[in-house]
Amino acid sequence: MMFRSAAIGRILSGLDRSRSLSTIASCRAVLVPRFGRPDVLEVRSDVSVPDLKPKEVLVGSRAVAINPLDLRMREGYGRSIFESLLPIIIGRDVSGEVAAVGSSVSSLKVGQEVFGALHPTAVRGTYTDYAILSEDELTIKPSTLSHVEASAIPFPALTAWRALHSTARITDCDRVLIIGGGGAVGFTAIQLAVAVGCKVATTCGPESVDRLLSAGVEQAVDYTSEDIEFVIKGRFDAVLDTIGGPETERIGVNLLKKGGHYMTLQGEAASLADKYGLAVGLPAATAILLKKQCQYRYSHGIEYSWTFMRADMEGLEGIRRLAEAGKLHVPVEKTFPLSQVKEAHEAKEKRLVPGKIVLEVD
Ligand SMILES: NC(=O)c1ccc[n+]([C@@H]2O[C@H](COP(=O)([O-])OP(=O)(O)OC[C@H]3O[C@@H](n4cnc5c(N)ncnc54)[C@H](OP(=O)(O)O)[C@@H]3O)[C@@H](O)[C@H]2O)c1
Repeated sequence: MMFRSAAIGRILSGLDRSRSLSTIASCRAVLVPRFGRPDVLEVRSDVSVPDLKPKEVLVGSRAVAINPLDLRMREGYGRSIFESLLPIIIGRDVSGEVAAVGSSVSSLKVGQEVFGALHPTAVRGTYTDYAILSEDELTIKPSTLSHVEASAIPFPALTAWRALHSTARITDCDRVLIIGGGGAVGFTAIQLAVAVGCKVATTCGPESVDRLLSAGVEQAVDYTSEDIEFVIKGRFDAVLDTIGGPETERIGVNLLKKGGHYMTLQGEAASLADKYGLAVGLPAATAILLKKQCQYRYSHGIEYSWTFMRADMEGLEGIRRLAEAGKLHVPVEKTFPLSQVKEAHEAKEKRLVPGKIVLEVD
């Protein structure tokens, strides 16, 4: 890591602690120079740090969570956007300290502890000593959480927020079903729905049942030993399907009330764009989505949508408040130093670690 302590020292001891342009020219980062297995990942110490745009914030990373999207991007998911831009830096989530702010940033100051997440299509990710996020992708880190704990929350929780609050607009009278509640998105979705006062049911693997019942679900069905359709009773206002296969889609759609929302995390826009190119793939994806929406409206009277994570200031603030109140967390199973990113990706890919993995930036 070049210049880090000296440069940070200069920045923090500057006359104006609230606004500072970065003097950090380069830093350490994990690069994907070509798509492939974990061994393609390269930790380089001389990766340039671009100048901040007016609304951007330079964050001295302390912890960076690993999301399934990072592994998929490393393998080539999103190649229609990213291939011509290689090498890219992967990683969406970050918790750290504001090191410098752009000229129009008004809500954050140098030295504040923040957490947040980048949009899925961002090219310069967070697996680096210095991440760049826009002001509205960051908020103050709850003091009750460590950087490791905080970094595990934003990307999955913003995805869950988008589905439950922005799309389904859940209220306290609603019944919500989370298919695949054991993962980070499913678990944060459960906590968001419970916080609103919804009655929540979920499906998950056997190791997750007790954790999800403790989080407030009324019913946690182990899909490895029980017949979901037989065991889950009644109809739901919203179904969030984190698995998104044909079988879970069929079950989820059939369990909805008329007017209810089925939301899958496995929208096909990126995979079709990767297969056919942006010009053909995106219109094809839109056509498929519209066709499904019409079909399900006609056959079941329900709303069907693909949920994609979106950086959303209102959502991030809501998430921060819940995390601060102890109502929202993502258990971190294991941490690795950033330098062992290959081992961390191996562990996630081979499911050697069942839950969340976080990279610590020393
Ligand atoms: N469309 C989007 O914008 C978007 C955004 C985020 C994620 N996604 C996608 O949504 C899917 C889920 O993402 P995620 O971040 O929730 O993945 P994740 O945290 O890696 O969870 C995946 C699965 O791992 C198991 N698991 C996780 N934590 C566990 C624990 N502590 N103990 C035991 N098992 C555990 C769960 O399986 P069990 O069922 O066995 O409990 C869970 O369903 C992925 O396919 C991802 O690519 C899409």
